[in-house]
Amino acid sequence: MTVDLNDELNRRRTFAIISHPDAGKTTLTEQLLLYGGAIQAAGTVKARKSSRHATSDWMALEQERGISVTSSVMQFHYGECVVNLLDTPGHGDFSEDTYRTLTAVDSALMVIDTGKGVEDRTIKLMDVCRLRDTPIFTFMNKLDRDGRDPVELMDEVEEVLNIQCSPVTWPVGMGRELKGLYHIIEDRFYPRSGAAPIDGLDNPALDEVLGMDADALREEIELVQGASHEFDLDAYLAGKLTPVFFGSALAKIGVTQMLDSFVKFAPLPQPRGTLTREVEPAEPKLSGFVFKIQANMDPAHHDRIAFLRLCSGTFRKGMRLRHVRAGKDIKVHDALTFFASEREHVQEAHAGDIIGLHNHGTISIGDTFTEGEPLQFTGIPNFAPELFRRAVLRDPLRAKALSKGLDQLCEEGATQVFRPLRSNDVILGAIGVLQFEVVEHRLRTEYKVESSFEGISVATARWVHCADHAKLDEFRRKAEEYLALDHKGGLVYIAPTMVNLHLAMERHPDIEFRSTREQWTGEAAA
Ligand code: G4P
Repeated sequence: MTVDLNDELNRRRTFAIISHPDAGKTTLTEQLLLYGGAIQAAGTVKARKSSRHATSDWMALEQERGISVTSSVMQFHYGECVVNLLDTPGHGDFSEDTYRTLTAVDSALMVIDTGKGVEDRTIKLMDVCRLRDTPIFTFMNKLDRDGRDPVELMDEVEEVLNIQCSPVTWPVGMGRELKGLYHIIEDRFYPRSGAAPIDGLDNPALDEVLGMDADALREEIELVQGASHEFDLDAYLAGKLTPVFFGSALAKIGVTQMLDSFVKFAPLPQPRGTLTREVEPAEPKLSGFVFKIQANMDPAHHDRIAFLRLCSGTFRKGMRLRHVRAGKDIKVHDALTFFASEREHVQEAHAGDIIGLHNHGTISIGDTFTEGEPLQFTGIPNFAPELFRRAVLRDPLRAKALSKGLDQLCEEGATQVFRPLRSNDVILGAIGVLQFEVVEHRLRTEYKVESSFEGISVATARWVHCADHAKLDEFRRKAEEYLALDHKGGLVYIAPTMVNLHLAMERHPDIEFRSTREQWTGEAAA
């Protein structure tokens, strides 16, 4: 059977949920999966935290720390749509990992706790989304509890997050007094009781159901419409305006209204840039990039899974793919799909979908796979950091705590650390400038270390490799002033300028200067 790729693309929505911890990301994810038929009972996602799916060391660690864990990619069907929900790691937010995940989505859903408003982490994640002008949906959660005034919440989003708000559903009451939601675009009232919706704000049936509140609602809607922005699809798609939905993930209020609009308005898979040309999702030939590598998904196998975002074409089981950086073709029989249905191995997947490739150390983040064309997708963080800072400690007695904190943050992928062989400096490397802020904040709050980071003249870093130990030792002696160790003890050449790097490469032809490194082992990748 031949599938029409355009049909498949029109059905695809690939997104991530961004929120501050405890705003309700897990609960909402669960509701979405329930509506999508991907799980049968509430509690499944949370139960997964302690089930066989969550037995990897990495997940156990997250669990221990009480951080929300769900599967990395969850696919479900809703109406005609195939929805791919990518999880952003709870604790590693705005690390390279989250940043990479947000490069793999076409839109995001922001969850805000109506009791708290815009919180820290949401601000940071929105900053990351803004790097690519990702379109944002907003869900104001926990409406079943008394929270802050809806107008005030929207003002806060506009001011703090610098994005226009367009209310789509509007609450009548709040907490115990919540009577239902008025849908502004549909001009329809959805009673909390689940009774049949009432069409039209002027409908007398509304007065029967709401009594005095009906007129109050009419007035309020007039005010709200006057003071806020009308929904504008282009402004939403450009990341300038966010449609706002009120509701409660726990009490199942307003979630379907949000989801219905989401599948209607959220963008299909978008074109992606490469070094040579722009790739259109409807191109028949497959292409995609790796945005995440996860260790020990299945503790019995101890392998790693590379998450490949398909950017064009169709994947079929058994197909031959070119691993562009390695220059090798591989036949893929056992690609994985995540949390979808009973079938574990992908038979077919299309642009917008994510498939998991078994990786025995050869695949790196940012790698491109195609049907032969030597493409390299851009906009996916590379392994070698592009930004460098020197850590400056306020209290020299906290040096040990700084070191410990940084090593742990490295394990989590929040930053990369380099320790020069000849000095006691600690150099941090990152891909996004936000990472430094995060590291500074976390050092202060979690490790009680006051530090700051200052500019340093480092242009780039290269992992050094040479099979001949004698030659490597000689190089180590000669180039010591430019060498450092990463947090796993890997030898790294820290180049003050690109010219310096090129000279070093010319002078030491037996030494390989690699721009990528296998994340989990510290080995320089081939
Ligand atoms: P997260 O993934 O964003 O960290 O949040 P999560 O869904 O785990 O929700 C955090 C807490 O907020 C949970 O309570 C959850 O039940 C509650 N919650 C989520 N959505 C709503 C809502 O719409 N209304 C209300 N009232 N509460 C909500 P908990 O007590 O920490 O966990 P649990 O014991 O309920 O599992």
